[in-house]
Amino acid sequence: MWVEASAPSNIALIKYMGKIDSLGNKPTNSSFSFCLEKLRTFVRVKKNPELSQDIWAPYQREDLRPIELSEKGREKFLNHFLFLKKEFKLEGFYVIESANNFPSDCGLASSASSFAALTLAAHNIMIEQSGGAKMGYRPKELAKLSQRGSGSSCRSFFSPWSLWHSEGAETIQIPYKNLKHQVLLCDESIKKVSSSDAHQRVLSSDLFKGRVERAEERLQKLISAMRAQNWKLSYQLCWNEFWDMHMLFHTSSPSFMYMNSSTMKALEMLHKIWDEKGDGPLVTMDAGSNVHLLYREDQGEIYNEVLRIFRHEMPVWTDEGYLNKL
Ligand code: DP6
Repeated sequence: MWVEASAPSNIALIKYMGKIDSLGNKPTNSSFSFCLEKLRTFVRVKKNPELSQDIWAPYQREDLRPIELSEKGREKFLNHFLFLKKEFKLEGFYVIESANNFPSDCGLASSASSFAALTLAAHNIMIEQSGGAKMGYRPKELAKLSQRGSGSSCRSFFSPWSLWHSEGAETIQIPYKNLKHQVLLCDESIKKVSSSDAHQRVLSSDLFKGRVERAEERLQKLISAMRAQNWKLSYQLCWNEFWDMHMLFHTSSPSFMYMNSSTMKALEMLHKIWDEKGDGPLVTMDAGSNVHLLYREDQGEIYNEVLRIFRHEMPVWTDEGYLNKL
């Protein structure tokens, strides 16, 4: 019998970039994220007595887009499942299938939703096999396990806001709840430097000196700004934070870049909107070329305007789905 689970992705406003210990994905600094409920990974798992090892396959379901995992990606995923099997005392071998409810070839795919969903699926098998006799783990405990597979996945256990600090991830109260999400798709190809490699390389940047203090200070300022519902200051802090991270990429050795000419154009246009209106979305970027935007519910007008402008420039992802460039 198949056991299923799904988990959302998340977008960090204060970034996890740099690890103290790569084995457990221990971050150098705290991070803070918003849960992206609409971007989800679905995982299903089934025991198969004929297998001599666990195997992965794309999950084929009409409403889902099967993922193609690279050899390395598959290994990382299956290794995490092995770790989960030990933790939950699961015997035998399993078929693991996974897919996203969004296209995986447009640069939106995140390991956060995949690893969180895999952790939940393995946990569900444990509950299922014990016939409900075993107590379930608490979200904080599951988040700790998931962190081992991929750091940012530990934040996907909390919604809408998640704070990951030295003790682990937990929910944090912020007055903004139902933020709307858009992604300006500046480059839809698979990135050349994985985020796991980026975590290692940034340590070699001169600018990494002071990064931990900067991130922690900015985090406190951002939480205060959001709690005071100071949107403009929140935007400024988010803006500085993603630039801080990308500058680490540009100055590490060897240096690398995700920002391309479309990214620069998009950032310039967004900056102009904020300058002219004194209002706009929160802007952030992950380790990639795409630009993520978050809007309050009452910013419908500006949301539509940004969409109108950018649809002539590049494809856009919205909570309602993928929109081709016009
Ligand atoms: C830039 O969680 O993908 O998205 O722990 O090696 O799997 P691993 O890295 P990952 O790193 C995410 C980095 C980021 C910033 C963030 O999400 O905080």
